[in-house]
Amino acid sequence: MDDRPIGVFDSGFGGLTVVRALLDLVPAEDLVYVGDTGRYPYGPRPLDQVRSYARQIARDLVDEHSVKMVVVACNTASAAALDLLRFELDVPVVGVIDPGVRAALQASRNGRLGVIGTVGTISSGAYQRSVRAQRAPVTLVCAACPGFVELVERGDTDSDQCLVLAERLLSPLRSEQVDTLLLGCTHYPFLARTIGDVMGREVVLVSSAEETAFEVLSIMSETGLGHRTAAKGSHRFLSSGDVGWFRELGSRLLGLELDDVERISWDPAPHP
Ligand code: DGL
Repeated sequence: MDDRPIGVFDSGFGGLTVVRALLDLVPAEDLVYVGDTGRYPYGPRPLDQVRSYARQIARDLVDEHSVKMVVVACNTASAAALDLLRFELDVPVVGVIDPGVRAALQASRNGRLGVIGTVGTISSGAYQRSVRAQRAPVTLVCAACPGFVELVERGDTDSDQCLVLAERLLSPLRSEQVDTLLLGCTHYPFLARTIGDVMGREVVLVSSAEETAFEVLSIMSETGLGHRTAAKGSHRFLSSGDVGWFRELGSRLLGLELDDVERISWDPAPHP
C-alpha cells in the first residue's frame, strides 16, 4: 500500500476529463493536478518543445510532490514524451493514446474509426502506430482540429462560433462514414455536445478518460500502489497561468468546487 498521490498533468483544463474519471473510479486516492495554462496550447508547438515541458512537469511531480505514478492526461504530451518519461522516471507513467484506442476499437462496428486531435498529435503519427500495435483491422481517418483547445480554455463549449468551426473541421470525417469518433485530445470531451450534433447520432464519441482511469487502477492493483484508507482523497490543483480563472472554469468543467488553486511557475528554460 502506498499513500503517495497520483500526479496528473495537461497543458490546461483538458486533463480534468481524466481527473473526473479518476475521482469516480479511485476516490480514495490523493491527486496532484498540474494545468500548464501559462504555456498552453501545446498542439501547435514543435514536439521537442512539448517534450521538454512534459519532462519538466513530470520531474516536478516526482521530485516536489512525491507522486507514485504520473498520468500524462494530454495526447500531445503523450505523443511527444511518453517513451522518454517511461525511460527516465522511477514511477509508472500512463498516457492517454493507447487507452483511447482500446476504447474506440471496442465501440466500432463497421471498422471505420475517426480520430481527432491537435496538429501535434495527429502529425506525430502516434494514433496510427497505436492502432497498428494493437493489430486491429480497422481503417483510421485522422483529422487535426486547430482552435478547439482555445475555445475550451476560454470556457466556450457551445457557442455559434464553436459550431461553425466544428462543422468546418469535421466535414472530412463525415464523408468518410466513420461510425466511431475518438476524441484524441483531452479537451474535446468538453465539446462533446457540439461535436455530436455535427457528426450525427449514429456516430459514437469515445473519450480516453475512463479507459485511462482503468489503466491506473489496474497498475495500482498489480503493483500494490493503491491507497490505504477508504476515505475520500485530497486533491490539489496547480496552474502556471491565471489561478483565479483556473478555479472558476475548472470548477465549472469538473462539476466540483475547486476551493484553492495554487500557482506553479517554471524556470524560463526547462531542463535540457
Ligand atoms: N489536452 C491536450 C491534448 O490532449 C491539448 C493540447 C494543447 O494544449 O493544444 O492534446
